[in-house]
Amino acid sequence: MFSIVKREAHRIPIALEHQSYEVVIGGQGIKAIGEELLMIGFKKGLKILVITNPDVAEPYSELFIKSLKKSGFVPTLLVLEAGEGQKNQKSIGLIHDAAYSSKLERGSLMIALGGGVIGDMTGFAAATWLRGISVVQVPTTLLAMVDASIGGKTGVNHPQGKNLIGAFHQPKLVLIDPETLSTLPTREFKAGMAEVIKYAVILDPELFNLLEELSDLTSLSKIGSQTLEKILIRSAKAKAKIVVLDEREGGIRAILNYGHTFGHVIETLCGYGTWLHGEAVAIGMVAVGELALQRKNWKKEEADRQKSLLKKAGLPTKWPKLNLDEVINTLHGDKKVKDGVIRFVIANKIGEVKVYNDVTKNEIINCLSKVNE
Ligand code: NAD
Ligand code: GLY
Repeated sequence: MFSIVKREAHRIPIALEHQSYEVVIGGQGIKAIGEELLMIGFKKGLKILVITNPDVAEPYSELFIKSLKKSGFVPTLLVLEAGEGQKNQKSIGLIHDAAYSSKLERGSLMIALGGGVIGDMTGFAAATWLRGISVVQVPTTLLAMVDASIGGKTGVNHPQGKNLIGAFHQPKLVLIDPETLSTLPTREFKAGMAEVIKYAVILDPELFNLLEELSDLTSLSKIGSQTLEKILIRSAKAKAKIVVLDEREGGIRAILNYGHTFGHVIETLCGYGTWLHGEAVAIGMVAVGELALQRKNWKKEEADRQKSLLKKAGLPTKWPKLNLDEVINTLHGDKKVKDGVIRFVIANKIGEVKVYNDVTKNEIINCLSKVNE
């Protein structure tokens, strides 16, 4: 006789000052959403608004809704259009309309089932509906699994800039089902891997070694489910560690922006949509790696190891042709500028970074002139 072995999920606690929650990785995955909600105290009969998009709804919403119903919840599904272009106040209006028509109350719940766009919007809609209702994140892209779903940053874009409208609103649970990555387009998977490599460089040399040992980093099938789960666990732990230390980005959380200062310049000047966020961050990491080299923070060997890993993940590493004055102006317009000083997160070695606010214009020019050599 066969016995069905239930795979145990890995649970990473996020113990914040006023609230704690878990990042649950693997196990029964999205099939277990109903049971997981019961386990953290949500009661049968609870109204739940599930927000997703067609790319995710098609393969996963039936299973997801079935699990919620089986556990006695009353779900409504809202399918929004996909894409960064939808991350705006109009979509928040649509979520709020659905919250109104499905009669969500103070104790009700919204669930984000999708990538970072769905996650950020659902989190913000939940933060603002009835002055704040609960939200659960069920990320389905690699980027959302290791970054966007954890830590409570929510929001939408303003026509003048990315993520300018937002709120901190921590989820009650983050449920990660690695198997959902089997349908993710390869380019999106690779872009998410840039954030994984980021964690390895800023905090986790063992993760860096693990990634170096693998022959291919470009898809779930090539990495293998078990190894990918290990990578997800290490990445989520890295993010959790920083969020717990600095929930509202008053200090150390800024190190999560490694590669992002130059990355945002690329996104802005090349036009949003030319490069995916993770791709721009990958090039940004190479550029700031060159800066670290020029400042003698780390050795050439370390800059080369970082670049090789990014290349192995199928990520771009070459700085695009950009006007230098525009680069400097864009750097000054970045959200991370404080009192007119541009802050750079620079590596001292693999596994250790520091925030610097003394990088000069000449250093930037010099670095960008050498980065593609
Ligand atoms: P995304 O949400 O746009 O998803 C990428 C694409 O993959 C979309 O077309 C989506 O429909 C599709 N998709 C998602 N899951 C799928 C699956 N399992 N199978 C098939 N297709 C799938 O992009 P993203 O990279 O996940 O997130 C980017 C967003 O996240 C940006 O808006 C960024 O600002 C935000 N972000 C937020 C934080 C944070 O801390 N809140 C951190 C990083 C990024
Ligand atoms: N994505 C960076 C942060 O959560 O702070």
